[in-house]
Amino acid sequence: MHSVASISNKIQPPYLEVQGNCSLKGEIKVSGAKNSALVLMAASLLTEESLKIQNIPQLTDIKVMSDLLRAAGVVVTSKNNEIDISTKNLRKANLPYELVHALRASFVCIGPLLARLGEVNIPLPGGCRIGARPIDEHIKGLKALGANVTIEDGLVSAKIVNSRKKLQGSYIRFNCKSVGATETILMAATLAEGETVLENAAQEPEIQDLAEMLNKMGANVKGAGSSRITIKGVNKLNGTIHTVIPDRIEAGTFLIAAAMTRSSLKVSPVIPNHLESLIEKLKECGCTLKINASSIEIIAGKSLKSVDITTNPFPGFPTDLQAPFMALMTTANGTSKITEKVFENRMQHVAELQRMGGDIQLKGSTAVIEGIPYLSGTYLSAGDLRASAAMIIASLSAQGTSIIQGLEHLDRGYEQIEKKLNQVGGNITRKNVNFIEKDNLEKSNREVISQQQEVA
Ligand code: UD1
Repeated sequence: MHSVASISNKIQPPYLEVQGNCSLKGEIKVSGAKNSALVLMAASLLTEESLKIQNIPQLTDIKVMSDLLRAAGVVVTSKNNEIDISTKNLRKANLPYELVHALRASFVCIGPLLARLGEVNIPLPGGCRIGARPIDEHIKGLKALGANVTIEDGLVSAKIVNSRKKLQGSYIRFNCKSVGATETILMAATLAEGETVLENAAQEPEIQDLAEMLNKMGANVKGAGSSRITIKGVNKLNGTIHTVIPDRIEAGTFLIAAAMTRSSLKVSPVIPNHLESLIEKLKECGCTLKINASSIEIIAGKSLKSVDITTNPFPGFPTDLQAPFMALMTTANGTSKITEKVFENRMQHVAELQRMGGDIQLKGSTAVIEGIPYLSGTYLSAGDLRASAAMIIASLSAQGTSIIQGLEHLDRGYEQIEKKLNQVGGNITRKNVNFIEKDNLEKSNREVISQQQEVA
């Protein structure tokens, strides 16, 4: 039997073992956008006909969404990166709490289910690690479309009250720019009677992708990508084939990984104008970026300058790249100020970066980072999806080896990330069985760092 002391010194698998001091080179492939794929799957509920969605990333979030659709009688079959969805046997069902809770994004199903079935019960998704994430804007929009919505004992029940069981087009001005609320109401309004205008709508590329697929299905949506979207309701939507846009957040993560390891990397496929705010900031740091039609090449110099960022809805700097960018700033020259304005609690990566030696002061939702020459490998715990990407980026550039736990977050949103990074020079191993002693890891990292200092 192990003593308590020896157990607490052991890191439990699964974890990633990341060798630091690495240089990346070559071309890295970007998967389909997770956030787009999830909402496109929800949009399938709007039609009785079959839908084929291509370029779907293989992720646990996609699996949860598939299971959720299946719970409502939908047939979902997937092969490689393609999903076929048939909702012919869609039925009124209470969607399982565990699934909605595991995947907040699944709440957008409320819009299409209501429009198609006339009523829906769906558990409240609850808060999450990065903030409270209320759903008031979704509810406000559904009410404006004529639904009766009640929330009782953690269950949201929405019902169309008129005898025709049709939502009514309406003018809706969102109080805040919400990706999820815009998607919920946009989907619901496609089958409403009359015209709906959404003001202060979110402008993210995933909303443009959704509108494009809805229009292929026979909807009449104009203005997606701007803050005013107009939807003329139609009676029925048809099936279609659609290809998911490339994941701008995954692409951005790879660009930042190249910058942090002072490497050169080609990232493709991408839609470059989805990444403009990041591209500007990387250039400001001193990186050279070559923008092609569907790829971006980054060449990072040996020394990078600190820059400030403030997260904002698209086209502002994406909150989903805030943690990776903070990792980058820990070893840039000078002082950087990073302000999180989208979510109230998205700074959990700060403590982990500090444990790697990062000089970061946190004041509310602003972090002030003093660049240091290098981070040191250590054992790390990723508290959310994008923080886990930040841990990988930081570990690739650090001196010594890092161990990253919390892979359940990583696997929600990055398809085969270690395989992709290893193909361009990373050295990352997923350990599913072996324990590792924290003391041994720290000792060998201290040795690596002192050897490095002797060389310097
Ligand atoms: C989506 C993305 C997530 C990204 C986020 C912001 C998916 C699956 N997830 O999340 O990766 O980080 O956009 O770009 O697409 N809010 C309200 N009331 C509401 C809804 C939202 O106050 O009814 C607030 C939220 O608390 C948050 C802000 O609006 O502060 C933005 O949230 P929102 O855009 O809705 O994020 P999600 O759609 O959940």
